[in-house]
Amino acid sequence: MKRTSKPEPVELIRINRYLSMCGIASRRKADELVTNGSVQVNGKVMTDLGRKIDPQRDKVFLEGKQVAQVHDYLYLVMNKPKDAITTLSDEKGRTTVMSLVRTKQRVYPIGRLDRNTTGVLLLTNDGEFANRLMHPKFEISKSYQVSLETALTHEHAEKLRKGMKLEDGKTSPAEVYIIPGGKGKEIGIIIHEGRNRQVRRMFESLGYEVKKLDRVAYGPVTKEGIARGGTRSLTRPEVRQLRKLAGMVEEF
Ligand code: URA
Repeated sequence: MKRTSKPEPVELIRINRYLSMCGIASRRKADELVTNGSVQVNGKVMTDLGRKIDPQRDKVFLEGKQVAQVHDYLYLVMNKPKDAITTLSDEKGRTTVMSLVRTKQRVYPIGRLDRNTTGVLLLTNDGEFANRLMHPKFEISKSYQVSLETALTHEHAEKLRKGMKLEDGKTSPAEVYIIPGGKGKEIGIIIHEGRNRQVRRMFESLGYEVKKLDRVAYGPVTKEGIARGGTRSLTRPEVRQLRKLAGMVEEF
């Protein structure tokens, strides 16, 4: 039997959506960039917001620099060291995690870790992926090892497990483990939210001093085998699992 092969259907998308998917800007900001003439498609300035592009074939430039194409996405995991901050730049000249990453394309962190928190930090230039992973509705698990100044009581472990009141609302249930051999001061905790300084605030509100905080996993991704300050690319299965957890359709 003779087979006819049809070309793959191509989904054309609006330029503002494309720019936000690439992590360049919000859609509103992307509209501004288009209307003010900063965006070129295949060598021509494009100011028409209604025009759609083919993300696989069209070459999009922002202020003369080519925007990473969809298939050029990078997905990295860093074992963040202490004293590195997760904001993109710092006017006080402190070390940013960006300065530790050596890639030609611009990537940015997915969410934040405090300056003194170490461990798993994901970075990408895939804006939609990043936004979805950070969205609370997907409840991606984050696992931490917490070193406390004093031993955690069973009563307090129960409070952490059940959910507790913080100034920005009640936390959702957490898994809490006392790590054997740690004299009750080494705790494993898994949360499914990502509020600002959440783990520190949970322990501090119960009267504990957090001496160290290390994120050991983000969903299925761990820092095993990565030196502090080091980075590796996520494997395809890791990206696939994260995309699935974030409700994204399989494309691989
Ligand atoms: N919770 C915190 O308190 N700090 C972090 O960096 C991450 C989670």
